[in-house]
Amino acid sequence: MQQKIDRSAISPDESEKLKDKLADNLQVSDGILEIRQILRHKKRFLDLLLLADEQESMINLYLERGEMFALYDQNILRTICVVTNEGNKTVELKNIATDPQYQKLGYGKKLIKFISEHYAGKYDTLLVGTGESPLTVLFYEQNGFKYSHRIKNFFTDNYDHPIYEDGKQLVDMIYLQKRLSDWP
Ligand SMILES: CC(C)(COP(=O)(O)OP(=O)(O)OC[C@H]1O[C@@H](n2cnc3c(N)ncnc32)[C@H](O)[C@@H]1OP(=O)(O)O)[C@@H](O)C(=O)NCCC(=O)NCCS
Repeated sequence: MQQKIDRSAISPDESEKLKDKLADNLQVSDGILEIRQILRHKKRFLDLLLLADEQESMINLYLERGEMFALYDQNILRTICVVTNEGNKTVELKNIATDPQYQKLGYGKKLIKFISEHYAGKYDTLLVGTGESPLTVLFYEQNGFKYSHRIKNFFTDNYDHPIYEDGKQLVDMIYLQKRLSDWP
């Protein structure tokens, strides 16, 4: 049954947020955990996007052409990701971030499992590029990605300031890939 919403009881700001959420396209729900495709106002998630990619002008290069998904647990936003079509039956995970207070609880893994299933069948390969950060590379390996190639000096050539992770400056972009045709 469609839930009735008393719009007079909520502020204009909350009403806008509610409209955004209702416009988002529910993909998966078990009543507690939900994954929604975000169809409008993707910039409302900028705080999380910046955790994975700290330069907004770089995010702007893929945000609109990308498909964005958000994972909610008990209606609380936990993790977002953006996936782009790179042609040649390849999709690329451009950004994935979990709210810091909910990291290491398995939400990132769940969202990667979802997108792997979502794009399998239509695409052969899921790519992801990351800085040379051991924790992040391990996270992708634990989620079925294998080393593919590197782009030398990607971070030093494309970002307007040095990017550090765990005290180490990122220089090359490391690409990992997962064959979706092998999925699951
Ligand atoms: C990478 C990230 C999305 C993982 O999300 P998550 O919901 O914590 O993922 P899971 O709970 O499924 O997996 C946790 C694993 O992530 C790895 N990890 C990667 N980066 C990490 C970080 N900064 N802090 C803690 N764990 C991290 C660990 O190996 C951890 O494994 P463990 O629980 O066995 O120690 C999350 O750490 C994050 O948002 N980091 C900041 C943004 C970012 O760097 N995104 C990737 C850009 S390429």
